[in-house]
Amino acid sequence: MNNFVFHNSTKVVFGKGTVGAIGDEIKNYGYKKVLFLYGGGSIKKNGVYDSVVDSLRRNSIEFVEVSGVKPNPVLSKVKEAIDVAKRENVEAILAVGGGSVIDSAKTIAAGFYYDGDIWDAFTGKYKVKKSLPIFVVLTISATGSEMNGGAVITNEDTKEKWSFWASTSFPKASIIDPTVQFSLPREQTVYGGVDAIVHVLEYYFDGSKGRKVMDRIMESIIKTIMEAIEILIDNPTNYEWRANLAWSATLALNGLTSVGSYGGDWSSHIIEHSLSALYDIAHGAGLAIVTPAWMRYVMNEDREKFERFAKEIFGKNNAEEGIEAFKGWLKKVGAPVSLKDVGISFEDVGKIAENAAIRSPFGKLKPLYKEDIIAILKLAFE
Ligand code: NZQ
Ligand code: ZN
Repeated sequence: MNNFVFHNSTKVVFGKGTVGAIGDEIKNYGYKKVLFLYGGGSIKKNGVYDSVVDSLRRNSIEFVEVSGVKPNPVLSKVKEAIDVAKRENVEAILAVGGGSVIDSAKTIAAGFYYDGDIWDAFTGKYKVKKSLPIFVVLTISATGSEMNGGAVITNEDTKEKWSFWASTSFPKASIIDPTVQFSLPREQTVYGGVDAIVHVLEYYFDGSKGRKVMDRIMESIIKTIMEAIEILIDNPTNYEWRANLAWSATLALNGLTSVGSYGGDWSSHIIEHSLSALYDIAHGAGLAIVTPAWMRYVMNEDREKFERFAKEIFGKNNAEEGIEAFKGWLKKVGAPVSLKDVGISFEDVGKIAENAAIRSPFGKLKPLYKEDIIAILKLAFE
């Protein structure tokens, strides 16, 4: 167990019928005007939009809407919203949606106080020190963005999907009402769950030792998410499993799983972000393809841990069988497991590796260079 600091400043309001509390949460801070940010319109179909608007009006909170944030959110949309936020002089950002909307909100909130190009926060040229306050109504459990300080955005011009983290990006309050996720398409439930599992795995397999309580917590989160997905793909309105999936996904990346670690490996994520940047595929789908290939490539760096994973999660005896069982499970729940499954051609390996290698070497368990990335991508065709 390495030394650690655990600090999470986000208040979570969790449960059935909690969306209507968003206005009260904002009012408690005394804010009177917000930028209301959302995605492609799912919130208008499932009633979340109406509940949010009712709650804001009841609390006399003025709002300016910006909609159309797309999955794999882009920098141009963020910049458009920063202009609106400045022009309208809003006091806070309200994100209603999933990781794409929340990450955009975090970037807008930081961009509000920065006169340069906010992409500088992603390249490291600007260290975010100040953000507008952020409030969240979560509509899909996946990224943990509702309770962390991270944001991931794609720069469409350079095809870079990069991230920044700031303590000022933690939402002030996040509403997690699992019933609003009843309307999720099956594949989004699966991709969200896979993303959360891989967040746990990034910390589980970063080479850190002696985190006995964390290993057990992480295994419990993974097993709970797997069971939840299996049930929800046939019964999307099962409240208990929606609730368990939602809280598991939040715990997967709210700082809990990182305590005492080396900070996570993150290789699967960095390689996946290149796939999303180049082909606009869903993050969870990309992870389902990349993670088992990464596991095969690095397992000898920590065979003991891969054997533990095989035994604890799948009841298997060795590392190889554990990884195969994971891949088999991903396939069973309908996730793609090969780059072939999403129509990417073998000739593109160089281009993808080039995109990811800008950040190399990366990875804690095994530092990866371009030739390693190429080898992993080749395994991801099997
Ligand atoms: O845009 P709408 O119409 O709302 O539809 C969305 C979108 O198409 C739909 N959806 C969301 N809630 C729904 C719903 N449809 C029906 N009913 C509901 N209740 O789901 C689709 C996906 O939404 P999105 O926000 O993109 O999903 P997710 O939460 O998986 O976010 C993915 C993004 O977050 C980044 C990913 O890279 C990706 O860009 N990540 C953010 C992280 C963070 N901030 O900590 C960490 C992650 O590793 C990840 O990289
Ligand atoms: Zn992720």
